[in-house]
Amino acid sequence: MYSDRKVALITGGARGLGLETGRQLAEKGFHVIIAARDAEAAEAAANGLRVGGYNASSVQLDVASDTDRQGVHQHIGEKFGKLDVLVNNAGVLLDGPDAGVAPTNPPGETPPSVLRNTFEVNFFGPIFLTQMLLPLLKKSEAPRIVNVSSVLGSLTMLSEESSPAYHARFVGYNTSKAALNMFTVLLAEELRGSAIKINSVHPGWVRTEMGGQNADLSIQSGALTAVKYATLPDDGPTGGFSTSRSASLGSIAAVCRVRSGCQPHIHVAWSTKSPRTVP
Ligand SMILES: NC(=O)c1ccc[n+]([C@@H]2O[C@H](COP(=O)([O-])OP(=O)(O)OC[C@H]3O[C@@H](n4cnc5c(N)ncnc54)[C@H](OP(=O)(O)O)[C@@H]3O)[C@@H](O)[C@H]2O)c1
Repeated sequence: MYSDRKVALITGGARGLGLETGRQLAEKGFHVIIAARDAEAAEAAANGLRVGGYNASSVQLDVASDTDRQGVHQHIGEKFGKLDVLVNNAGVLLDGPDAGVAPTNPPGETPPSVLRNTFEVNFFGPIFLTQMLLPLLKKSEAPRIVNVSSVLGSLTMLSEESSPAYHARFVGYNTSKAALNMFTVLLAEELRGSAIKINSVHPGWVRTEMGGQNADLSIQSGALTAVKYATLPDDGPTGGFSTSRSASLGSIAAVCRVRSGCQPHIHVAWSTKSPRTVP
């Protein structure tokens, strides 16, 4: 049992923001458990961290699978006996298949499969995993839960036409992140007075497979917000929705300005080309 180190679990940890969040937490001395739906990819990522001199291991987890979530609970319970940090990072954007174009379907026509598959990963997965791991988190002295959300889940930003995110109208993705934010608010209220802090974060617009290569932030910069909220001091906030990357909002606005046809559809360069992100 690794009782001498804080233990962090990162979902969707084998690539993108998840892997970098894990690396940065490992750099801060955490034992990082890389969780990914492909066990080999998870172990390869964890091994990469170990080769880099960090403390890491892996576990197989499709966040949409109840069996996998139970397996992760058992694994962490048996091996570590507690969990200090849970980063609900895994996410999908299934509303449109092509990078840089508007959603395939307007909100009134989005197919049930897109909505259901999106919510399984972006909403139900994080909720059910968090519920299952709460007993292990409560064994930590300073438990932190980070829900990786998006400004596209902000009711305010999607309601104000002057907002840079206004035209990014991905009904599945946006509603799943808005719902995730509400879970953050409600669970934080339930746990207020305990040592647990839970926050939603927006990483900024980041050059990952989902964010696309036109995004303005490097993966290293994008991971900073999740790491900050995973390592909050005891007097830090809970129940919030934060980003330390206001620059990224400006860049989304810039994308809108330089392209024609921003109304009614912004052309945020989201990439959803990877078949690996489609359950
Ligand atoms: N990039 C941005 O600009 C941006 C902006 C705002 C918010 N975000 C959020 O940041 C988080 C990470 O995104 P990213 O940019 O790093 O995207 P990414 O490169 O596409 O990575 C997505 C990650 O989610 C994992 N995943 C997908 N479905 C899963 C499932 N059913 N079970 C477990 N893992 C699953 C993927 O694993 P596989 O390798 O198995 O596919 C991958 O590790 C997401 O929640 C996203 O919504 C990103």
